[in-house]
Amino acid sequence: KPVPVLAIDGPSGSGKGTISRAVADALGWHLLDSGALYRAVGYAASMAGIDLSDSAAVTRCAETTKITFRDLKDGGETRVIVNGHDATDEIRTETCGAAASAIAAIPAVRTALFDKQRSFRKAPGLVADGRDMGTVVFTDATYKIFLTASADERARRRYKQLKEKGLAVTLSSLLREIEARDERDATRKVAPLRPAAGALIIDTTGIPVAEVIARVLTVVHTG
Ligand code: C5P
Repeated sequence: KPVPVLAIDGPSGSGKGTISRAVADALGWHLLDSGALYRAVGYAASMAGIDLSDSAAVTRCAETTKITFRDLKDGGETRVIVNGHDATDEIRTETCGAAASAIAAIPAVRTALFDKQRSFRKAPGLVADGRDMGTVVFTDATYKIFLTASADERARRRYKQLKEKGLAVTLSSLLREIEARDERDATRKVAPLRPAAGALIIDTTGIPVAEVIARVLTVVHTG
Protein backbone atom coordinates (compact mmCIF):
# COMPACT_ATOMS: atom_id res chain seq x y z
CA LYS A 1 0.00 0.00 0.00
CA PRO A 2 1.42 3.42 -0.93
CA VAL A 3 2.26 5.87 1.84
CA PRO A 4 -0.78 8.19 2.20
CA VAL A 5 -0.43 11.85 1.26
CA LEU A 6 -2.73 14.68 2.27
CA ALA A 7 -2.19 17.56 -0.18
CA ILE A 8 -3.18 20.98 1.14
CA ASP A 9 -2.98 23.79 -1.41
CA GLY A 10 -4.14 27.38 -1.35
CA PRO A 11 -3.10 31.04 -1.47
CA SER A 12 -0.99 32.80 1.15
CA GLY A 13 -2.78 33.45 4.42
CA SER A 14 -5.41 30.80 3.77
CA GLY A 15 -4.31 29.10 6.99
CA LYS A 16 -2.42 26.30 5.21
CA GLY A 17 0.70 26.51 7.36
CA THR A 18 -1.11 26.40 10.69
CA ILE A 19 -3.61 23.78 9.57
CA SER A 20 -0.99 21.55 7.92
CA ARG A 21 1.24 21.56 11.01
CA ALA A 22 -1.66 20.81 13.37
CA VAL A 23 -3.04 18.03 11.17
CA ALA A 24 0.41 16.45 10.71
CA ASP A 25 0.93 16.50 14.50
CA ALA A 26 -2.52 15.01 15.15
CA LEU A 27 -1.93 12.20 12.65
CA GLY A 28 1.73 11.69 13.57
CA TRP A 29 2.63 12.23 9.88
CA HIS A 30 5.56 14.01 8.27
CA LEU A 31 5.14 17.58 7.03
CA LEU A 32 6.40 19.20 3.84
CA ASP A 33 6.35 23.01 3.83
CA SER A 34 7.06 23.38 0.11
CA GLY A 35 6.74 27.17 0.28
CA ALA A 36 9.80 27.19 2.57
CA LEU A 37 11.82 25.54 -0.23
CA TYR A 38 10.87 28.27 -2.73
CA ARG A 39 11.51 30.92 -0.08
CA ALA A 40 14.92 29.36 0.67
CA VAL A 41 15.91 29.48 -3.01
CA GLY A 42 14.66 33.07 -3.31
CA TYR A 43 16.67 33.92 -0.22
CA ALA A 44 19.84 32.15 -1.40
CA ALA A 45 19.62 33.80 -4.81
CA SER A 46 19.15 37.26 -3.27
CA MET A 47 22.07 36.72 -0.88
CA ALA A 48 24.26 35.68 -3.81
CA GLY A 49 23.34 38.89 -5.61
CA ILE A 50 21.65 36.98 -8.42
CA ASP A 51 19.21 38.91 -10.58
CA LEU A 52 15.91 37.05 -9.99
CA SER A 53 14.97 37.43 -13.65
CA ASP A 54 18.15 35.57 -14.70
CA SER A 55 16.49 32.15 -15.07
CA ALA A 56 19.71 30.23 -15.72
CA ALA A 57 21.49 31.65 -12.67
CA VAL A 58 18.47 31.17 -10.40
CA THR A 59 18.08 27.59 -11.65
CA ARG A 60 21.73 26.83 -10.86
CA CYS A 61 21.09 28.31 -7.42
CA ALA A 62 18.02 26.04 -6.94
CA GLU A 63 20.09 23.02 -7.97
CA THR A 64 22.98 23.75 -5.61
CA THR A 65 21.39 25.34 -2.53
CA LYS A 66 21.36 22.97 0.45
CA ILE A 67 18.07 23.24 2.31
CA THR A 68 17.34 21.24 5.45
CA PHE A 69 14.56 21.34 8.00
CA ARG A 70 15.41 20.91 11.65
CA ASP A 71 12.64 20.11 14.11
CA LEU A 72 13.16 21.41 17.62
CA LYS A 73 12.67 19.03 20.54
CA ASP A 74 10.52 21.57 22.40
CA GLY A 75 8.05 21.61 19.50
CA GLY A 76 8.97 25.18 18.50
CA GLU A 77 8.98 26.40 14.91
CA THR A 78 10.86 24.11 12.50
CA ARG A 79 14.17 25.73 11.60
CA VAL A 80 15.03 26.15 7.93
CA ILE A 81 18.75 25.84 7.28
CA VAL A 82 19.99 27.30 3.99
CA ASN A 83 23.59 26.48 3.05
CA GLY A 84 24.39 25.98 6.72
CA HIS A 85 22.79 29.22 7.88
CA ASP A 86 19.60 29.30 9.98
CA ALA A 87 17.39 31.45 7.74
CA THR A 88 14.06 30.68 9.46
CA ASP A 89 13.27 34.30 10.29
CA GLU A 90 14.68 35.85 7.11
CA ILE A 91 12.64 33.64 4.77
CA ARG A 92 9.33 34.60 6.46
CA THR A 93 9.45 38.26 5.41
CA GLU A 94 7.09 39.42 2.65
CA THR A 95 10.16 40.49 0.65
CA CYS A 96 11.28 36.89 0.63
CA GLY A 97 7.71 35.77 -0.19
CA ALA A 98 7.81 38.00 -3.25
CA ALA A 99 11.25 36.65 -4.23
CA ALA A 100 9.92 33.09 -3.79
CA SER A 101 6.95 33.86 -6.02
CA ALA A 102 9.23 35.32 -8.70
CA ILE A 103 11.63 32.38 -8.85
CA ALA A 104 8.75 29.87 -8.50
CA ALA A 105 7.52 30.94 -11.95
CA ILE A 106 10.71 29.55 -13.55
CA PRO A 107 9.93 25.99 -14.79
CA ALA A 108 13.49 24.66 -14.29
CA VAL A 109 13.44 25.85 -10.68
CA ARG A 110 10.29 23.81 -10.06
CA THR A 111 11.92 20.79 -11.72
CA ALA A 112 15.00 21.22 -9.50
CA LEU A 113 12.81 21.02 -6.38
CA PHE A 114 10.57 18.20 -7.58
CA ASP A 115 12.52 15.15 -6.34
CA LYS A 116 13.34 16.81 -3.05
CA GLN A 117 9.62 17.33 -2.41
CA ARG A 118 8.75 13.77 -3.40
CA SER A 119 11.36 12.43 -0.98
CA PHE A 120 9.27 13.66 1.97
CA ARG A 121 6.75 10.90 1.30
CA LYS A 122 7.59 8.49 4.09
CA ALA A 123 5.58 6.20 6.36
CA PRO A 124 3.29 6.57 8.15
CA GLY A 125 2.12 9.49 5.96
CA LEU A 126 2.77 13.00 4.65
CA VAL A 127 0.93 16.29 4.88
CA ALA A 128 2.13 18.37 1.92
CA ASP A 129 1.51 22.14 2.10
CA GLY A 130 1.87 24.32 -1.01
CA ARG A 131 0.39 25.60 -4.26
CA ASP A 132 0.73 22.57 -6.54
CA MET A 133 0.84 19.61 -4.15
CA GLY A 134 -2.38 18.08 -5.49
CA THR A 135 -1.98 19.25 -9.11
CA VAL A 136 1.69 18.48 -9.85
CA VAL A 137 3.94 17.08 -7.13
CA PHE A 138 1.56 14.53 -5.61
CA THR A 139 -1.06 14.04 -8.32
CA ASP A 140 -1.58 10.63 -6.72
CA ALA A 141 -2.28 12.10 -3.27
CA THR A 142 -4.75 10.13 -1.20
CA TYR A 143 -6.59 13.28 -0.08
CA LYS A 144 -6.66 16.73 -1.68
CA ILE A 145 -7.80 19.90 0.00
CA PHE A 146 -7.83 23.49 -1.25
CA LEU A 147 -7.98 26.13 1.48
CA THR A 148 -9.01 29.67 0.69
CA ALA A 149 -10.24 32.81 2.45
CA SER A 150 -11.11 36.35 1.39
CA ALA A 151 -8.11 38.55 0.53
CA ASP A 152 -8.92 40.88 3.45
CA GLU A 153 -8.94 38.05 5.95
CA ARG A 154 -5.74 36.55 4.52
CA ALA A 155 -3.99 39.92 4.78
CA ARG A 156 -5.17 40.32 8.39
CA ARG A 157 -3.82 36.85 9.30
CA ARG A 158 -0.45 37.51 7.68
CA TYR A 159 -0.35 40.90 9.41
CA LYS A 160 -0.86 39.26 12.81
CA GLN A 161 1.78 36.59 12.07
CA LEU A 162 4.41 39.09 10.93
CA LYS A 163 3.64 41.48 13.81
CA GLU A 164 4.10 38.65 16.30
CA LYS A 165 7.52 38.09 14.79
CA GLY A 166 8.26 41.77 15.38
CA LEU A 167 8.38 42.67 11.69
CA ALA A 168 7.39 46.16 10.61
CA VAL A 169 4.41 45.90 8.25
CA THR A 170 1.23 47.80 7.46
CA LEU A 171 -2.05 46.10 6.68
CA SER A 172 -2.68 48.05 3.48
CA SER A 173 0.76 47.33 1.97
CA LEU A 174 0.43 43.68 2.99
CA LEU A 175 -2.95 43.41 1.27
CA ARG A 176 -1.43 44.85 -1.92
CA GLU A 177 1.57 42.50 -1.74
CA ILE A 178 -0.59 39.45 -1.09
CA GLU A 179 -2.92 40.26 -3.97
CA ALA A 180 0.04 40.77 -6.32
CA ARG A 181 1.66 37.50 -5.21
CA ASP A 182 -1.59 35.52 -5.56
CA GLU A 183 -2.21 37.01 -8.98
CA ARG A 184 1.27 35.94 -10.12
CA ASP A 185 0.91 32.46 -8.59
CA ALA A 186 -2.50 31.93 -10.17
CA THR A 187 -1.66 33.18 -13.66
CA ARG A 188 1.83 31.70 -14.21
CA LYS A 189 2.23 29.17 -17.01
CA VAL A 190 3.79 26.43 -14.92
CA ALA A 191 1.93 24.87 -11.97
CA PRO A 192 -0.53 27.75 -11.49
CA LEU A 193 -2.36 27.93 -8.18
CA ARG A 194 -5.72 26.23 -8.63
CA PRO A 195 -7.69 23.47 -6.89
CA ALA A 196 -6.80 19.95 -8.03
CA ALA A 197 -9.54 17.94 -9.71
CA GLY A 198 -11.64 16.39 -6.97
CA ALA A 199 -10.14 18.57 -4.22
CA LEU A 200 -12.36 19.51 -1.31
CA ILE A 201 -12.48 23.32 -1.24
CA ILE A 202 -12.75 24.86 2.21
CA ASP A 203 -13.31 28.61 2.57
CA THR A 204 -11.89 29.41 5.99
CA THR A 205 -13.14 33.03 6.14
CA GLY A 206 -14.54 33.50 9.65
CA ILE A 207 -14.08 29.84 10.60
CA PRO A 208 -12.09 29.16 13.78
CA VAL A 209 -8.80 27.30 13.22
CA ALA A 210 -9.91 24.39 15.44
CA GLU A 211 -12.94 23.84 13.25
CA VAL A 212 -10.91 23.81 10.04
CA ILE A 213 -8.49 21.29 11.59
CA ALA A 214 -11.44 19.10 12.61
CA ARG A 215 -12.88 19.22 9.09
CA VAL A 216 -9.57 18.26 7.50
CA LEU A 217 -9.07 15.40 9.97
CA THR A 218 -12.56 14.16 9.13
CA VAL A 219 -11.53 13.93 5.48
CA VAL A 220 -8.59 11.68 6.41
CA HIS A 221 -10.54 9.58 8.89
CA THR A 222 -13.55 9.00 6.68
CA GLY A 223 -11.73 8.96 3.32
O1 C5P B 1 3.43 29.17 1.04
P1 C5P B 1 4.40 30.31 1.00
O2 C5P B 1 3.74 31.65 1.13
O3 C5P B 1 5.52 30.14 1.95
O4 C5P B 1 5.04 30.25 -0.48
C1 C5P B 1 5.85 31.28 -0.97
C2 C5P B 1 5.77 31.31 -2.48
O5 C5P B 1 6.39 30.14 -3.01
C3 C5P B 1 4.36 31.33 -3.07
O6 C5P B 1 3.86 32.64 -3.21
C4 C5P B 1 4.54 30.64 -4.41
O7 C5P B 1 4.93 31.55 -5.42
C5 C5P B 1 5.70 29.70 -4.18
N1 C5P B 1 5.26 28.31 -4.01
C6 C5P B 1 5.02 27.58 -5.15
N2 C5P B 1 4.68 26.26 -5.05
C7 C5P B 1 4.55 25.68 -3.86
C8 C5P B 1 4.76 26.42 -2.67
C9 C5P B 1 5.11 27.75 -2.79
O8 C5P B 1 5.12 28.08 -6.26
N3 C5P B 1 4.23 24.38 -3.80
